[in-house]
Amino acid sequence: MIDKNLVAPTGSPDRALLDALDLARLPRHVAVIMDGNGRWAKQRHLPRVEGHRAGAAAVRDTVETAARLGLDALTLYAFSTENWKRPQAEVSTLFTLLKEYLRKEFRTLAENDIRFRVVGRPEGLDASVRSALGLALEATANCKGMVFSVALNYSGRAEITDAARSLAKEAAAGRLDPGTIDEAAVARHLYTAGLPDPDLLIRTSGELRISNFLLWQIAYAEIHVTPVLWPDFRCRHLLEALVDYQRRERRYGGVSEADETAAAAAGASNARTALEA
Ligand code: FPP
Repeated sequence: MIDKNLVAPTGSPDRALLDALDLARLPRHVAVIMDGNGRWAKQRHLPRVEGHRAGAAAVRDTVETAARLGLDALTLYAFSTENWKRPQAEVSTLFTLLKEYLRKEFRTLAENDIRFRVVGRPEGLDASVRSALGLALEATANCKGMVFSVALNYSGRAEITDAARSLAKEAAAGRLDPGTIDEAAVARHLYTAGLPDPDLLIRTSGELRISNFLLWQIAYAEIHVTPVLWPDFRCRHLLEALVDYQRRERRYGGVSEADETAAAAAGASNARTALEA
């Protein structure tokens, strides 16, 4: 049961957005490409890393709102395999911020029944980062509420490649008949195994790109792009994205309900005409 006052107190500007939502039709899984930290810092004549620091506060706020709304899953894109190309000092600050976040927040995550998860290749991360991740993974392992995943050292193509490799290994070991590999089998070998596919993908800072994020899983996701830079992203912006999502009609390659009804009516009328002829 959602406590609306915890998400947006009565009379607050966010409350009107919350009241506009049909809480029974929220997306199960929201994925976010957090973008614009560098531009946020540049606008303020600050070093880029200050944008990332402010971005960590937006992470905290978004996780809290998503959990209070009762979403099943939230996945944030924090570090791609391409991000290693950034200056070493920036990469190092990003991981320091992540470690600080995890060490400060792991208890709060557990207290709020939020299960932490990593998607990506954690084996490619520094031991100190893996240890901080381990802390949060362990503390929240038995949590039953929202699954909060952070994509780290992540690439959608690498994820599909890893799944293919893992399926091939099982087949070579005689544990899997290649003829039985279907979409569900591929999904079971992705880093996100067990999670529903994202229904909504949000990208901040106005860029219209997927950036190698959850390529398999977003096949039918609705995409919401906001000009807001990630460090400014707050409860209100998540609610705006959810309102936008609920305005969309999801057809999964089919036709709309209205068109289906019209087509059925036309079919019945054609059949009557044929019988009468
Ligand atoms: C994109 O902005 C943002 C990132 C590559 C990193 C996101 C990381 C954080 C918000 C820090 C902490 C993370 C957690 C999970 C606590 P950009 O630098 O590409 O921005 P720009 O396009 O404006 O340069």
